[in-house]
Amino acid sequence: MEMYAPPGSVTAIRIADGHADFKQRYVRTDKFLAEEKARKALFGRYRNPYTDNESVKGVIRTVSNTNITFWRGMLLASKEDGPPFAMDPVTLETIGRYDFEGQIKTPTFTAHPKFDPDTGEMLCFAYEAGADGSDCGVDVVTWTINADGIKTEELSFKAPFAGMIHDCGVSKNYMVLPLTPIKMSLDRLKKGGNKFAWDPNEDQVYGLVPRRGGKPEDVIWFRADNGFHGHVAGCYENEEGHVIFDLTVADGNVFFWFPPEGESPDFNQRARLSSPTCRWIFDPKAKSGTRASHPYNGRQMASSHESMIDVDHQQAGYSTAWHIIRGSRRWGKTGEEDVWFAGPTATYQEPVFIPKDGGAEGEGYLAALKNNLDELRNDVVIWDAQKLSAGPLATLHLPFKLRLGFHGNFVDHRDIEAWQKRRASELGPVKPADSPLPWQVKLSNGGGNEPDDGLKGHDEKL
Ligand SMILES: [Fe+2]
Repeated sequence: MEMYAPPGSVTAIRIADGHADFKQRYVRTDKFLAEEKARKALFGRYRNPYTDNESVKGVIRTVSNTNITFWRGMLLASKEDGPPFAMDPVTLETIGRYDFEGQIKTPTFTAHPKFDPDTGEMLCFAYEAGADGSDCGVDVVTWTINADGIKTEELSFKAPFAGMIHDCGVSKNYMVLPLTPIKMSLDRLKKGGNKFAWDPNEDQVYGLVPRRGGKPEDVIWFRADNGFHGHVAGCYENEEGHVIFDLTVADGNVFFWFPPEGESPDFNQRARLSSPTCRWIFDPKAKSGTRASHPYNGRQMASSHESMIDVDHQQAGYSTAWHIIRGSRRWGKTGEEDVWFAGPTATYQEPVFIPKDGGAEGEGYLAALKNNLDELRNDVVIWDAQKLSAGPLATLHLPFKLRLGFHGNFVDHRDIEAWQKRRASELGPVKPADSPLPWQVKLSNGGGNEPDDGLKGHDEKL
């Protein structure tokens, strides 16, 4: 199934002065431009360049359709199989591929960069980063970009196996990289097959990466029984210096369309999965290969907001879509849950937290797209983030249906305006990449897709 391959399009909903405005634009990636020019599809299967039209060999394939992040006056549209593309945050026009002004030239880049609220740093990473982004290799890189846009840290190392690293956690001194046991295979790609295959016999793995001055041998890999990572709910260090890491972990293959090697997809599997929020506690003094303590359901511990399936709110016909908005809080010994149900004919997409001006942690609003499945039309629903069960504060009725999206984020227009001023004066406009990526140069010189020497880390032995 190619469900994760459509071109990225960004929807902006601006709410101000009692009105809401809507804008939507495609991310004009290299792939988009090539297909627009040819007026036909030229690229084949999800993350498999061996299924492409020969005319687009060497063209960056990413569709930048996973996340949209505000950074230094631009929006970065990103998907983890390629570099990010910069967009204007007001017009949504694509500025071009962004390489952090020549500082990051890997073939891949995460769709989930994180930001340190104390320092303004961006913490980011890439996997399958050593060659052309399709070598199914184990090369991983982490970076820190400071608030002035300068790369201050770069660490290249090898993962224990060629799996997926979708999201990350950031604490004061560490990054945590969840390595999911859904594995890449170059042989399978060359045969025209799937990029990934689920390995039910492999561990889930967590890489603990020092944020400052780390060496490849300083990366610690923790292992635990098989599971499929969801998104990260929180990450911090406790008084003992241990790293607390909260995320959802499913008890099976969420990507059922990438079954184990040689098997067919089980389309009913997803409805059977359980995906609790789990808490892991990592001791940075542990040895690589340590078994991490078994997770427990962290509902009472982790503060988070999520849209989810809940057995108490099953709806006939819609049992595999999210239909409640839930807030969980760690305040109080027993924790609290705060739930709002979409209703019998509706589901939600991912909620976005909007902090309240001058508010304490957790104070603010929650906004989510609601899919009205009976009308084939969307609403934007806004709640008080701490009073979900009181019902929406406001609902914006869109006159049409949006396709299902992955991620979104809130941007305060005051930040956009402040960066517009800086960009119009001392910083100058956003500078898109002005030269091809190293793998593209190598390919045009007749080279292959083996990792570059500069990205070869040590061999991790577990
Ligand atoms: Fe994601």
